[in-house]
Amino acid sequence: MTAKYAIILAAGQGTRMKSKLYKVLHPVCGRPMVDHVLTQIEANNMDEIVTIVGHGSEAVEQTLGDRTEYALQAEQLGTGHAVLQAEELLGAKDGITLIACGDTPLFTAQTFAELFEYHKQKGAVATVLTARTDNPFGYGRIIRNEIGIVNKIVEQKDATQEEAAVKEINTGVYVFDNKELFAALHKIKNDNAQGEYYLTDVMEVFQKEGKIVAAYKMDDFEESMGVNDRLALSKATKVMRRRINEEHMRNGVTLIDPESTYIDIDVKIGNDTVIEPGVQLKGKTVIGTDCKIGAHSEIIDSQIGNNVTVTSSYIEDAVMHDNTDIGPYSHLRPQAEIKSGAHIGNFVEVKKATVGENTKVGHLTYVGDATLGHDINVGCGTVFVNYDGVNKHHTNVGDYSFIGSGSNIVAPVNIADHAYVAAGSTITDDIDAHDMGIARGRQVNKKGYFDRYPVAQAAAEAEKNKAENERK
Ligand code: UD1
Ligand code: CA
Repeated sequence: MTAKYAIILAAGQGTRMKSKLYKVLHPVCGRPMVDHVLTQIEANNMDEIVTIVGHGSEAVEQTLGDRTEYALQAEQLGTGHAVLQAEELLGAKDGITLIACGDTPLFTAQTFAELFEYHKQKGAVATVLTARTDNPFGYGRIIRNEIGIVNKIVEQKDATQEEAAVKEINTGVYVFDNKELFAALHKIKNDNAQGEYYLTDVMEVFQKEGKIVAAYKMDDFEESMGVNDRLALSKATKVMRRRINEEHMRNGVTLIDPESTYIDIDVKIGNDTVIEPGVQLKGKTVIGTDCKIGAHSEIIDSQIGNNVTVTSSYIEDAVMHDNTDIGPYSHLRPQAEIKSGAHIGNFVEVKKATVGENTKVGHLTYVGDATLGHDINVGCGTVFVNYDGVNKHHTNVGDYSFIGSGSNIVAPVNIADHAYVAAGSTITDDIDAHDMGIARGRQVNKKGYFDRYPVAQAAAEAEKNKAENERK
């Protein structure tokens, strides 16, 4: 078997992005662009992968970790110069080498496999992956001779008017005979419009040496889209998003309006789940089967079980077990865990707290730093008072307990199983099993107080006048 290597070019500055973030690290549907490229390359069972990184590239190494080796290109002198930085690692090896750019996130493993196959079939030294587009501006143009053989690749800035009119473009992906590649790289010069060493110039080197240069034209230009600025970033994201959505629909997920549904690439969704318009599912979120994710919900890095209903709510870094529901307009914050059968109603916020099985937290409540057992009823407007201005404190509530509406549960406090909190209480002490805690001022009624109220006097006057008028 021929050994297969890959080189990913990711040292460029990405100035056209106008960003603090390194270009290839800009995310497309939840994954940095360069990670998309690497993932699709990995799927082709490579023997060795080298990523070319530049200044301030620690972030790239941190992102990709040990999935690839790295070679530093200290100065960005062009794509040819970039590839040459891998010579120390790969130069002496026999095999074929795939080169791709870190800013072309849409290529699929399938296309890379086809390119390898075509390269072998043609017995070529170099095969470039090309595509056709009506708007080739900015791409290198594929210049073929009368019989269709690739003579060279010409960059936008170096192209004559005639060359610029060519609609077949260089996608920036190639397969080379590895040793021939490095030999040719030593022969290219930087006497061009950008004063750079162009990788694309090795094609002309091979051509002049009488070696076979092939071109594999892919059908889908969209897949080859390179991202150099934010406009292209949004276009690439749209393409990726459509792909992701179609995959989920093929797997049995209903998307009411795929055009307005935003699902990151690593999200998993079970079949017969229905996703309404405007939903955003991000990060490593996993959603089970038979769920309904209601319009405009946003779920980030969370686990949602089977048969869960989420109505217009925001869920981050949280867990909802089977047969639970939430919303409308509620918020699960990190480390919220909602056990099966539990109900979280509207305007409820849960943070770093467990809500036990079949427990109900129906309305306008804050549950922070708490462990709630099963079959509890938490009344409307309850506040778990967890913060004293310096430290956070924890509250426990036992199974089958009842928290009356409008209560403040001032942590740290323990409410046992089968305990009762009277509505409107401010609970600061533990409550034992089968007891009731009631902590509020007793009601006092002031006789005739209403009549001292000026509005009341005016109302009495008006009523008297009305009665007189009716009599007349
Ligand atoms: C390049 C190709 C062009 C092709 C296009 C496809 C060359 C000379 N041009 O142009 O023919 O149509 O890609 O998208 O190869 N990089 C480095 N070091 C450098 C310069 C670039 O690592 O010194 C990396 C960049 O990070 C990027 C990739 O190489 O990932 C391509 O560089 P870029 O400047 O975007 O080239 P294009 O102008 O798009
Ligand atoms: Ca580019």
